[in-house]
Amino acid sequence: MSETQGESSKSLVEQVKTSIQRMPLFPAGERDRLRATVSNLILHIHPPKVEQRALRFSYTFGLGGLLIVLATVLAITGVLLLFIYTPSPEAAYDSMIALQTEIRFGNLIRNLHHWSGNAMVVVGVLHLLRVFFTSAYAPPREFNWIMGVSMMLLIIAANFTGYLLPWDQLAYWAITVGTSLLNYIPLIGEPVTRLLLGGPEVGAATLTNFYGLHIAVIPLTIFGIASFHIWRVRKDTFSVPRNLNEDPVSRKDRVTTIPHLVNIEFVFALVMLALLIGWAVFVNAPLEEAANPAHSPNPAKAAWYFMGFQELLLHFHPVFGAIFIPGLGLAGLFALPYLERDQDVVGIWFQSTAGRLLTIFNALAGIGVTILLVLLDEYWLDLPGWLPFLPSSISNGWVPTAAILLALILYADFLKTLKFKKTEIYQAIFTYLFFAFVTLTVIGIFFRGEGMALVLPWN
Ligand code: HEM
Repeated sequence: MSETQGESSKSLVEQVKTSIQRMPLFPAGERDRLRATVSNLILHIHPPKVEQRALRFSYTFGLGGLLIVLATVLAITGVLLLFIYTPSPEAAYDSMIALQTEIRFGNLIRNLHHWSGNAMVVVGVLHLLRVFFTSAYAPPREFNWIMGVSMMLLIIAANFTGYLLPWDQLAYWAITVGTSLLNYIPLIGEPVTRLLLGGPEVGAATLTNFYGLHIAVIPLTIFGIASFHIWRVRKDTFSVPRNLNEDPVSRKDRVTTIPHLVNIEFVFALVMLALLIGWAVFVNAPLEEAANPAHSPNPAKAAWYFMGFQELLLHFHPVFGAIFIPGLGLAGLFALPYLERDQDVVGIWFQSTAGRLLTIFNALAGIGVTILLVLLDEYWLDLPGWLPFLPSSISNGWVPTAAILLALILYADFLKTLKFKKTEIYQAIFTYLFFAFVTLTVIGIFFRGEGMALVLPWN
């Protein structure tokens, strides 16, 4: 019986299958070569073997990988948006309307770009928290932490510069408020703000500057640092506790990256993409009426990730609220891995049960005390009024800042007497400050109304 005669007796599905198999996408030898090339590529960013313990989802939550997925979505959708967008005050807003009304899938692409950018801020912070609470910043990964913090700043800068591009009221006034914070940097504040804006206020030159930064300078810098960051993860290996193995050189709990790690990453990326696309289909990126420099909304708020700073400005002298306190926090983040030299802390969530409870306590304390202080400052506390003989930079700057720093130092000392480890004390202070900042951000976004007065969002 000839091959064709035999085939006519097969079912239709089988015939289609055979016809596809007869014409493989790549001949057998080529397929092997392709598989080898892809494997090689994967092994450039991953070690050939990983410790099984590091694969547990509850250790990393796949957050670093998710950042790569989001960055890829941003790059693809960003390039597509470039085909439509014109960075001039006359045309930018019209490009947004065209995306919504004339271009097939234009709105979906804009939504995907907008939500991935916002998600990158949230996921970046979560990744930072996971690295922090597993003490994975300690040696030998200290410089990778520094690169991470730098990337976090760049992710915020990318979002901030992108915020202006739609050129609607939201964009115009959020950037006006956001850049005005820079003015408070002593000596260089004004020239730097002027350089960034391309003039005294937000205008056509600002749009050109932000466009260049947003589509080229910031993404390329993130790409460069991220490549180095991921290569370092490969060199340093994933962090795992040093002392849990009786025999640290034992390889018995190591598995090959392909397929064990790669399969997990692939499924996780697909699930995350499905969620992101689902969200972008149903939730539109905001767009208000076209920018009107003559009409400032009340209240004029910064972008949501800067609302914590805008809230700080309501309570402290501007140099402290906008520069000194955030600068101190940032310096602490950069210095952290150089304060912690103990490698035995690496890879253990919260260090101990006591450390876990201490973290929960400080999260609640950070929220509670911040709400209390904001209410006190709004309705009762009036340091400049009580200390009229002092300049406000002292009465409303140095005095409250020094009081807070002193309280934190005494608290850290108290925890030391309770025999908490150094790492647990860092965790306690960090958790307290982090949750205080998140609370300020939530108050700024939802509980500030006209004239930035406290309001209830549901009234
Ligand atoms: C564009 C932003 C970033 C990308 C693409 C990225 C990517 C990754 C990836 C893929 C990993 C390995 C898997 C994992 O831990 O989930 C990782 C680990 C790490 N990341 Fe990031 N990351 C970014 C931002 C950050 C930030 C903001 C920090 C902290 C400030 C940070 C600090 C670290 C450290 C220290 C490790 C090693 C952790 C360990 O071995 O357990 N990264 N990053």
